[in-house]
Amino acid sequence: MAEEKISGVVITFFSTASAVGKTLISINMASELARQGCRVCLVDYDLQFGDVANYLKLPVEHSVYDALAEMKKNPEADIRQQVEQYRYGTICFDVLPAPEFLDQSYNLSTEACTELVEKLRLLYDYVIVDTTSMFSKLNLAMLDISTIVTFLGVVDFIPTIKNMKIGNDTLQNLNYDTHKIRLVLNRSDAKTRISMEAVQKLLGEGFYHVLPNDFRAASESISTGVPLVLSGSDSVLAEEIRRLISRYTNRAYVPGPEQLGSRSEAHHKGGLLGRLFRR
Ligand SMILES: Nc1ncnc2c1ncn2[C@@H]1O[C@H](COP(=O)(O)OP(=O)(O)OP(=O)(O)O)[C@@H](O)[C@H]1O
Ligand SMILES: [Mg+2]
Repeated sequence: MAEEKISGVVITFFSTASAVGKTLISINMASELARQGCRVCLVDYDLQFGDVANYLKLPVEHSVYDALAEMKKNPEADIRQQVEQYRYGTICFDVLPAPEFLDQSYNLSTEACTELVEKLRLLYDYVIVDTTSMFSKLNLAMLDISTIVTFLGVVDFIPTIKNMKIGNDTLQNLNYDTHKIRLVLNRSDAKTRISMEAVQKLLGEGFYHVLPNDFRAASESISTGVPLVLSGSDSVLAEEIRRLISRYTNRAYVPGPEQLGSRSEAHHKGGLLGRLFRR
């Protein structure tokens, strides 16, 4: 009997402004899912200026560019031979960093990039895709094939909010399943004169989840290369990232030995993924 291949969950991080935390939150999501024992591949589709490898302090020998080249040469090749591995203690997950050199990022076809993610989702439980802040052909293709889109925003300047409104309206007009797009506010308590309530009113929708501003925790994660959810950080940011993941997976947070000392409580909230993805 033919083996049934279960398709993994694709979670894409998208925004309509840069520097809203897509990369920071996506590496933390990949890390926490890996810590829970899931097979995870984190793909950096910020092809020109990707930061995933930098934020993880990961040397790059293989990138999206190499994976696509290998796939073209041999469509049957096992893509897992073309990935980097991030390790922290016993926790590990695979990473496909953005091309190392700028000239390698040109002319990568959207069709091939999409096919790569479709192949990866047959090999991993979760494929996390970090993107850029634009409605590009590649990003639209990723939004189409994703199980969940984390649409991240921050409330800082009027143009950022205007673009979030345009982005949210556009996503609604694309008629995606309403459960698919998760509007998440990051850096919620950064000092701004604009209230979250005013933004929600403008958007005509409440935020699905809110992540706090924590400059110290975010900078420490990037400078050490150890994602907050793995380092045992007791920051509220780490706790809220874990809570967001619990809502996605429908699994309560249970700290491992490395995370003990964190003041996080186990949270259990309803989510779509537990029903979508049979483990
Ligand atoms: N919740 C947070 N609190 C404080 N700082 C944060 C938070 N989230 C992200 N940052 C910081 O904001 C900066 C931008 O984050 P990040 O690179 O993840 O954004 P991005 O959306 O991926 O940006 P780009 O569009 O340029 O790829 C980083 O310095 C990061 O440390
Ligand atoms: Mg980024």
